Amino acid sequence: MTSTLDYRTIIDAVAQRRNISPNQLAALLSTNDTEAVKILFEAAHAEANRVYGNKVFMRGLIEISNHCKKDCLYCGIRRSQVGVRRYRLTSEEILDCCEQGYALGFRTFVLQGGEDGWFDDDRMCDIVSEIRRAYPSCAITLSLGERPRESYQRLFDAGANRYLLRHETADPQHYALLHPAEMSFDHRQQCLRDLWEIGFQVGCGFMVGSPFQTVQTLYEDLQLIRRLRPEMVGIGPFIPASGTPFAECPAGSVDTTLRLLAIIRLLHPVVLLPATTALGTLHPEGRELGILAGANVVMPNLSPRSCRSLYSIYDNKLSSGSEAAETASDIRCRLSELGADAAPDRGDPALAR
Ligand code: 5AD
Repeated sequence: MTSTLDYRTIIDAVAQRRNISPNQLAALLSTNDTEAVKILFEAAHAEANRVYGNKVFMRGLIEISNHCKKDCLYCGIRRSQVGVRRYRLTSEEILDCCEQGYALGFRTFVLQGGEDGWFDDDRMCDIVSEIRRAYPSCAITLSLGERPRESYQRLFDAGANRYLLRHETADPQHYALLHPAEMSFDHRQQCLRDLWEIGFQVGCGFMVGSPFQTVQTLYEDLQLIRRLRPEMVGIGPFIPASGTPFAECPAGSVDTTLRLLAIIRLLHPVVLLPATTALGTLHPEGRELGILAGANVVMPNLSPRSCRSLYSIYDNKLSSGSEAAETASDIRCRLSELGADAAPDRGDPALAR
């Protein structure tokens, strides 16, 4: 029997050493001791407050295309998924989204999309330069999957500052179970290194409760985060997408996601950590709970209304209500009820590398 006091000792040790052992991780993920879990969340929330004050950063998410040449087994917009109405935004539409976002107070634009060959380097660099020229004080974040190093370099030179590329899993064997044979674990890791070396603020991340995930693979994920020291980490529960090979797999747990958010905050205090849409999809207060467990970023959707339901990487993805950027003021209210202040600034990492 482990007592609440023992868990407190584990949590203190994790926070102090900024490291966790496989046994400590297993203990924190499996305990039914609600008091212990509360201590974990409070420690992580306090750590976020220590580093970033009570600020929560808002990013405007623009889903520029749901075309994808990749075939990740879990994803609802994978290449071989039938019945998806595919769309891509024009440059004008993307710039309109930025304009609306700027007026709503957003100072970071996140351009996210499937791996769509239409958005080659010339097109993408034009769009990035336009945004950079129109909004010199804003951060531009890209999330466009794997590209050659030269491509990342050109996008960086065009004015992009940040790049999100979830590593998906730090275990090569697990990676192979989630992806088709043509995709490579090593290549994905190489992309993250390239982005880092070029000077992007980098975000990695993974799904919680993805098929075949174990405490050991999660342990590897946490060690990867400790090694890479990314500026951002995106995690959210796995949610099955109908029509994919994993359609019948169970969804990841909200509670485990919250515990992992808290552990990541303790291991890497300066990280920018979103309370993701997937968390909000599985629980009506998922995002608020995420903030109370150490997250400090929210990413409301700025995409045109007509496209939002088409970017269906999993079933029932939130795309209206507080997910819609129009309700930015609503999000601000909900955050202020938690004592958090939705910050209207770029929200750069607290520590330069
Ligand atoms: N459930 C939850 N997250 C998913 N992603 C893709 N498919 C799903 C799903 N079914 C995540 C992946 C990807 C990011 C854009 O969304 O981690 O990197």
